Amino acid sequence: MDKKQRNIKFFDSWAGSYDKFVFGFWLRSMHSDVLKFIAKKQKLKILDVSCGTGEMLLLMLRRLNKPDIYGVDISRNMLDIAKRKLKGKSKLKYADVALLPFKNNTFDYVITTESFHHYHNQKKSLMEMKRVLKKNGRLIIADVNFFFDIVHRIFEILEPGCVRVNSRKDFINMFKKTGFKDIKQIRSSVFGVITAGIKIS
Ligand SMILES: C[S@@+](CC[C@H](N)C(=O)[O-])C[C@H]1O[C@@H](n2cnc3c(N)ncnc32)[C@H](O)[C@@H]1O
Repeated sequence: MDKKQRNIKFFDSWAGSYDKFVFGFWLRSMHSDVLKFIAKKQKLKILDVSCGTGEMLLLMLRRLNKPDIYGVDISRNMLDIAKRKLKGKSKLKYADVALLPFKNNTFDYVITTESFHHYHNQKKSLMEMKRVLKKNGRLIIADVNFFFDIVHRIFEILEPGCVRVNSRKDFINMFKKTGFKDIKQIRSSVFGVITAGIKIS
């Protein structure tokens, strides 16, 4: 089974109990930190890639000013739960990050939380997220970070569906190579790092 199929199977089977996950408080605190990178403007068009059960989308609905929010995920079971919770307040689609069903230059913000290390083609995923961003739109990636590369390599072996855990420096380099400027990075909730950058063109 390839990494993509393994992720679908893993998250489809986890979906029913995902919101009761013992580290849920940790995820929610990262979600709050992501909001710090989003401007306080009205009606921003925002895509949450790998929205899972929709917790980040719900937070944006509560804390932002009339956002126009979209979510995609490759786990149908995670999406079904998100659909129930969002009650039509977000447009949700089944899609792989490596092939997003949106036109070029669509969103003010593209975000992804706790998912990038599961992406089977990280370079293509970054290109796709950049493609659907408007010029000067902002990409925000929140992902796990355990300080040391040796721990990252062990995590990759232990966590089902994990492809690669990137260091802080890896993220900065990937953002630069893909064509982002004003790159900012913060540590979040001890074992997480958020990297954000503005699309150049
Ligand atoms: C740990 S969960 C995070 C969910 C949510 N973003 C959160 O913060 O709670 C990882 C999510 O990534 C999704 N995922 C994994 N690979 C993906 C891919 N190639 N394209 C889109 N979503 C993917 C999984 O289905 C799962 O919902």
